[in-house]
Amino acid sequence: MPSDDPEAPPPTHPMIRAIAMPSDANANGDIFGGWLMAQMDLGGSNLAGRIAHGRIATVAVDAMSFIRPVKIGDEVSVYADLVSVGRSSIKVNVEAWRRARDSASERRVTKAVFTFVAIDSEGRPRPIAAGSV
Ligand SMILES: CC(C)(COP(=O)(O)OP(=O)(O)OC[C@H]1O[C@@H](n2cnc3c(N)ncnc32)[C@H](O)[C@@H]1OP(=O)(O)O)[C@@H](O)C(=O)NCCC(=O)NCCS
Repeated sequence: MPSDDPEAPPPTHPMIRAIAMPSDANANGDIFGGWLMAQMDLGGSNLAGRIAHGRIATVAVDAMSFIRPVKIGDEVSVYADLVSVGRSSIKVNVEAWRRARDSASERRVTKAVFTFVAIDSEGRPRPIAAGSV
């Protein structure tokens, strides 16, 4: 996970990267919060899916913070950090960082705690196999 220093380069690889496009913007020209949450969901679930070894569903998003805006053309990187694994649930700290196209530095734009649940083919919670972390 990147440090709290907004200028510090992330020490880990992002789970996903995307470019914010004009179709992702609101009427002010800033990127929709919903689009950012979707990217965070994708990044967090990329980590949770590796642990669950199968189908998962997002069950909760806690402490969602939008810290600064994202602009069209920005590169958005989503970092995910495992918090805990329960019987069927996986809690993940997720942050999105933006990098302007003409800049080398990244700045944190959002953070939240996502909870995913491993589910079976019927959509019911299923236990996560021991030793899968
Ligand atoms: C995910 C789902 C199957 C869980 O069903 P459920 O009846 O709540 O299941 P349980 O009560 O047995 O809880 C399962 C686990 O989720 C956790 N959980 C449930 N609701 C939670 C919440 N609001 N916040 C945090 N954890 C939660 C439980 O603590 C439990 O964890 P554990 O097994 O590690 O102890 C069900 O809520 C669901 O289908 N939700 C819709 C999911 C969805 O459509 N997401 C969007 C698209 S992916």
